[in-house]
Amino acid sequence: MDARILATLRAATPEWVSSEVLRQHEEVSRMTISKRIRSLQALGYRIESRPSKGYRLLEEPTELDAEDLRLHLSSSTFYQHPFHLKQETGSTNDDLRALAGEGAPEGTVIFSERQLQGRGRRGRVWFAPAGEALQFSVLLRPPIAPGQGTLIPLLTAAAVYRALTALGVPDVGIKWPNDVLIDGKKVCGVLCEMSVSLEGIDYALLGIGLNVTTSTEQFPEELREIACSLASATGKNWNRKEVWVAVLNELETLIRALWNGNRAEILEAWRAGAVTPGQLVDVMLANGSTVTGQATGVTEDGALRLILPDGKEQIFHSGEVSVRPNSL
Ligand code: BTN
Repeated sequence: MDARILATLRAATPEWVSSEVLRQHEEVSRMTISKRIRSLQALGYRIESRPSKGYRLLEEPTELDAEDLRLHLSSSTFYQHPFHLKQETGSTNDDLRALAGEGAPEGTVIFSERQLQGRGRRGRVWFAPAGEALQFSVLLRPPIAPGQGTLIPLLTAAAVYRALTALGVPDVGIKWPNDVLIDGKKVCGVLCEMSVSLEGIDYALLGIGLNVTTSTEQFPEELREIACSLASATGKNWNRKEVWVAVLNELETLIRALWNGNRAEILEAWRAGAVTPGQLVDVMLANGSTVTGQATGVTEDGALRLILPDGKEQIFHSGEVSVRPNSL
């Protein structure tokens, strides 16, 4: 009910909504409405009330709060509540792995303001100053064959791409397989770790790090040229809760699509944001060697297609792509 009351107040902002209207929507007493308004106020919603006019929403809280997130995602049947919101931890992926081992359901989410051992892809450290980013992990129990699990990182990047674009962020792009960039600088990284057994994928840990309010000066010098946040790239203020809710909603849509066997939708969503196709790229392999070629797109499994200088095609299932600067 709180979510619906909030939606009605939000839709009317800055106007008043009479207690009568709220009461009729919900078919409850005036007293129940005033009790629900008090509980929203306790969550940080600034709601003005006047006996003659009713209620009006003045301001929404910007802090992340598990109960408040439940309100924002009330139409979702995917995410498990309450969200685990931590001030500090080692790595949210490691915490979630422990919960997965205890049988936690799909849609369990762990968030941390600060990670002491935040991990990136290829064994790298993930950097984010406390309170400026969205650092969280989502537990998946994929009902798909392990071979199709390769699309999970791609769908994650596509979800972030869609959310940021819908929020009006310009020049968002995806670099294969799952880095999200703004104007060529990385704003979001994805670390997808899977536990696979003979029966199939037991679980997948979807770790997402999205820089929201980090200023350029807060990035270590060696990252300033290659990393950005929503704020540093756009010069605007961003509300982390709003961004997070948008990402979680898009993520749910694409996860459901994949679980329903709709791989084409995932590839289409990824391609819509991809900046690599058509570019001259270097692919750094796990053994340290580099292959250069023209990226043409991805296979049905999300592997990178590259045309080598001799005209032959080579497919990459992993590797670190850097786009040659003059080809962008
Ligand atoms: C990358 O290298 O691009 C992936 C970065 C992934 C960072 C996120 S933050 C939340 C989750 N916990 C971790 O330790 N890493 C991921």
